Amino acid sequence: MEKTKIGVIGCGNISPAYLTAGQRFEILEIAAVADAIPERARARAEEYGIPRACSVDELLADPEISIVVNLTIPAAHAEVALQTLEAGKHTYGEKPLAVNRAQGRQVMERAAELGLRVGSAPDTFLGGGIQTARKLIDDGWIGQPIAASAHMACHGHESWHPDPAFYYQVGGGPLLDMGPYYLTALVNLLGPVQQAVASATVTFPERTITSEPKRGERVTVEVPTHVAGILQFRSGVVGTLLTSFDVWASNLPLLEIYGTEGSLSVGDPNGFGGPVHLRRANGSEWSPMPLSHIYTEQNRGIGVADMAYALRSGRPHRASGELAFHVLDIMDTLIESSAERRYLELQSTCERPAMLPVGLRPGTLDD
Ligand SMILES: NC(=O)c1ccc[n+]([C@@H]2O[C@H](COP(=O)([O-])OP(=O)(O)OC[C@H]3O[C@@H](n4cnc5c(N)ncnc54)[C@H](O)[C@@H]3O)[C@@H](O)[C@H]2O)c1
Repeated sequence: MEKTKIGVIGCGNISPAYLTAGQRFEILEIAAVADAIPERARARAEEYGIPRACSVDELLADPEISIVVNLTIPAAHAEVALQTLEAGKHTYGEKPLAVNRAQGRQVMERAAELGLRVGSAPDTFLGGGIQTARKLIDDGWIGQPIAASAHMACHGHESWHPDPAFYYQVGGGPLLDMGPYYLTALVNLLGPVQQAVASATVTFPERTITSEPKRGERVTVEVPTHVAGILQFRSGVVGTLLTSFDVWASNLPLLEIYGTEGSLSVGDPNGFGGPVHLRRANGSEWSPMPLSHIYTEQNRGIGVADMAYALRSGRPHRASGELAFHVLDIMDTLIESSAERRYLELQSTCERPAMLPVGLRPGTLDD
């Protein structure tokens, strides 16, 4: 199969997950890497056998590269995406799409003007766990969905990430950092959101880094670190969403969907696997469900592979800019509603991405 050549900008902590995608997906070839810190790009190229480490400008000028994967920090997402589009290439970025709705809209509008595609993480909703949940819901196992709950509560990332300041700056916080996994899963399962309201707070205005090499450095918190929200889906489903970097421990379920005829418990939307459990009306226990779909291990980059197949056949890609923009819109709306102390209408909507086919051959995405 002829491969789609990919350039990667941003060679930090998450980049290894993407730099191995060429080995996992037949359609992808990682052709070049770049980083604002050139030695990082050189080191990653050597470590992962990528043929070329170069500057961002050189990467964008390479006529063979058609999709640029943007793994920079959130504050740089929109700028790098726009640079990529201006170079005539499709852009696929880490989450969030941008630090706010206005920047996200700029990226989407420029892409539309230029006839180029925008893709965005997370792509964990393409994993076997959430795809199985999607099939069970669409096949009617819980009847009509009526409600959902999603919880992500931890104490932040300064205990393990080597350079964690961005998690507390604009574009970070538990909602913009972790919310995309939960919200993308919810929109994939239940469709778009119409209105939202939240209460958002900052419990600790300053954080102290405890990971190496920046141990002891202080970080000023610019964004809410505890956000409790309610989502009114267009379908009538009522969702509750908690994202927090202020909580030391919790036993809350990660993701549950409730229907008129049963309940579904879904695995961590920040991962690709299950378990998926179903409890039917009047049932006395939760039953573990066999996973109907493959890709149950770490498969970040599956959204890029899906975009490469989509470009070839002309079909829509699943981890799309439209979906990521709607998720960003939900997150902005939650924060704004907290400041205004009232429900707000979403400014966007989107289609549910198509379910992946059952029975795929590993390493491929289309029949
Ligand atoms: N670390 C994780 O576990 C993880 C997991 C999932 C998603 N993400 C997301 O991935 C993105 C990157 O996170 P990370 O942890 O790898 O961050 P990081 O700070 O480790 O790496 C970011 C890299 O981008 C480079 N960079 C920044 N601005 C640039 C620019 N304008 N041009 C070129 N290079 C630039 C930096 O030099 C750095 O090497 C974030 O959006 C984050 O939310 C991270």
